[in-house]
Amino acid sequence: MEFNVKSGNPEKQRSACVVVGVFESRKLSGMGEQLDEVSNSYLSNILRRGDLEGKLGQTLLLHNVPNTLSDRVLLVGCGKEREFGDKQYKKIISKMITTLNETGSMEAVCFLSELNVRGRDTRWKVRQAVESAQDTLYSFEEFKSKTDATRRPLRRLTFNVTTRKELAPGERAIEEGLAIASGSHKAKDLANLPPNIANPSYLAEEAKALAIENDKVDCEVLDESELENMGMGAFVAVARGSDTPAKLITLKYNGAKTEDKPIVLVGKGITFDSGGISLKPGEQMDEMKYDMGGAAGVFGAFIAITQLQLNVNLVVVIAAAENMPGGKASRPGDIVTTLSGQTVEILNTDAEGRLVLCDALTYVDKFEPDVVIDVATLTGACIIALGNQASGLMSNHNPLAHDLLNAGEHCGDRAWRLPIWDEYQSQLDSNFADMSNLGGRPAGSITAACFLSRFTKKYHWAHLDIAGTAWKSGKDKGATGRPVPLLTQYIMNRCESQAGR
Ligand code: BES
Ligand code: MN
Ligand code: ZN
Repeated sequence: MEFNVKSGNPEKQRSACVVVGVFESRKLSGMGEQLDEVSNSYLSNILRRGDLEGKLGQTLLLHNVPNTLSDRVLLVGCGKEREFGDKQYKKIISKMITTLNETGSMEAVCFLSELNVRGRDTRWKVRQAVESAQDTLYSFEEFKSKTDATRRPLRRLTFNVTTRKELAPGERAIEEGLAIASGSHKAKDLANLPPNIANPSYLAEEAKALAIENDKVDCEVLDESELENMGMGAFVAVARGSDTPAKLITLKYNGAKTEDKPIVLVGKGITFDSGGISLKPGEQMDEMKYDMGGAAGVFGAFIAITQLQLNVNLVVVIAAAENMPGGKASRPGDIVTTLSGQTVEILNTDAEGRLVLCDALTYVDKFEPDVVIDVATLTGACIIALGNQASGLMSNHNPLAHDLLNAGEHCGDRAWRLPIWDEYQSQLDSNFADMSNLGGRPAGSITAACFLSRFTKKYHWAHLDIAGTAWKSGKDKGATGRPVPLLTQYIMNRCESQAGR
């Protein structure tokens, strides 16, 4: 879809549709009033008759409004003006998109981007609108033999801004929104693909393709025998239960001076998590194809950053494997030696994420990272703690944690911090090895992060547990593309603060 910004009057737009907001109760927004005046109170008469109250998400499509140049006017209910904030804004944008897409307007001029959203500027509003439009129109239909394509889909959307001065930030916002949207789109596609297709080799091929397209991108793939030779005993222990070979995938984007230390993102890429010998129950087991959501998220962020051509060095490492209960699978009680030299007693083969990540986290030290952020659908306990709203954030460095929290708050892809105090570490004690991979039921997300923290002492590190945010279950089952917006925002913020220094 194509996006534009412009600064004009609603009655002067020659378009298939003009979109304006109506607050509760029946109160036209500024631009709506302007349309009402030129149309000799056509809109206010309709509202008075009670056709639209202005409740959040209500819509009313009008044709041939007098004295206007466009075919249609779409009124969108915005709820109570006093309560109008981020959530309400995103809701009306999404509602507008579905309505336009279903009612034959192939292009439209949207005046909702002019509404006042508390504390948000044009750049934020336009960017969110682009992201939300792309998100609303996303569907995954690769494996449907018949698709019901919309007959006259929305193709071009123009956002109106209040003054000409707002045009430049608006255009920048479109670029940013499109970059984040293509990153999220890729993350969703990778995660939604079935596990018999999106296996570690598939992820590796996708990564290699990025390096062919872009000469600032390098890709390296290590296969299972190389991981074994390097001493990644924990990673390999997970992979061995499967006939599908593991891969350690590295993507580099060289966007800054060679001597600039890179931001390193590490993604958990378990392309299917059966639990291994500690087999999971059958219910919803299909959703464990999403256990590569961390890999999909860092892959998507990589795409967004390369599309924006940011002045930064970025390394993405994906630990890709399948967790299966094959004849060579590890058993509860097995002891393995990690790349760091520390030994781990595997008490539960379903706590496999930390096993592949610990070796990847040791490995990335060679990039001399500025910061390392790992992203993983790591624990069911994180869903119990935070539900599906916030990703869990744990970190050994307060400034990094704060930057990530702020980035998430700004872009609406939020995280919430949990502690990783030393007091939790003893839950990982093992009678036979340096540690066990199981911390027991209390604070399951925290002890998982504590496990990882034993491999991240050399650098500033944060861990995002996206078990509750990477996908939705139930009727709307599907990947969300999170935390692509959060990661991209964090990197954008850093580039901006560095440019200002
Ligand atoms: N991938 C799962 C975590 C998960 C489960 C995410 C359900 C989202 C939904 C992870 O590998 C796992 O199985 N974790 C175990 C850890 C436990 C054995 C210590 C869990 O959360 O139960
Ligand atoms: Mn598991
Ligand atoms: Zn898992």
